[in-house]
Amino acid sequence: MIKIAPSILSADFANLERDIRRIDTADYVHVDVMDGLFVPNITIGIPVVKSIRPTTALPLDVHLMIDRPVRYVETFCQAGADIVTVHVEADTEENTGKALELIRAQGRRPGVVIKPGTPAEAVLPFLDQCAMVLVMTVEPGFGGQAFMPDMMDKVRAIRGWIHSRGLDCELEVDGGIGPATAPVAVAAGANVLVAGSAVYKAADIPGRIRELRGQN
Ligand code: DX5
Ligand code: ZN
Repeated sequence: MIKIAPSILSADFANLERDIRRIDTADYVHVDVMDGLFVPNITIGIPVVKSIRPTTALPLDVHLMIDRPVRYVETFCQAGADIVTVHVEADTEENTGKALELIRAQGRRPGVVIKPGTPAEAVLPFLDQCAMVLVMTVEPGFGGQAFMPDMMDKVRAIRGWIHSRGLDCELEVDGGIGPATAPVAVAAGANVLVAGSAVYKAADIPGRIRELRGQN
C-alpha cells in the first residue's frame, strides 16, 4: 500500500499539535529539519521533535537537511524520530555510512536522500544499510515548489536495485506531490509520498490523504 507522509513544514507552527492531529489518518509525520547552511532556509530542530513526539502515535519521519548530520543523528533518535534520513551530499561517504550505523544502533530506521542534481548511483554504497531512500522531486529548502518529473528515472532505477537485491527498503519522494503527480511517482516505483501544501491546503485533509493514496 502507498503511504502518505504529510510535511508539517506546511502546518501552522503556532498550532502544531492541532495540525498534527489533522493528519492522523496518514502513515508518517514528515519533519523537515533545515540548518540554513545545507539549504537556504531554517525551520525546526531537536526540541520540536521532542515536543511533538507525545502528540501522535504516527512514526516521525525526520528529513535532515543539515550539514554533517552524523553530529546530530543520535540526538534526533533520542528526541523521538522513528525514521531519520540524511543527504548523501551533506558529508563524506564514510561519515554518511557512520550516520546510518548510529541511527540503526539507536533502534531507528536509517535512510539516505538525494537532491535533484545527484545521480541515483549515489545511493548504491548505502543501499544495503537503508530502511528508506528519499528522492527529492524539488530542490530542498522550501515547500510549494513544482514537481520535477525528470526525477522519475532515478526512482525507477532505485526501485529496480531494491527489488533485485531483495531489500526491505521504502522508496520515498518529496516535493510537489499532489493529486496530479502522486500517480506519476507511484508508477515509477515510489511507495511513500511526502506532501506538504497538497495536504495542508486541502479543505478535506483525510479525503486528500485517501486521494493521494489512490483510494478515491
Ligand atoms: C522541501 C521539503 C519538503 C516540503 C514539501 O525541502 O523537504 O518536505 O515540505 O512541500 P510540498 O509538498 O509543498 O512540495
Ligand atoms: Zn522533506
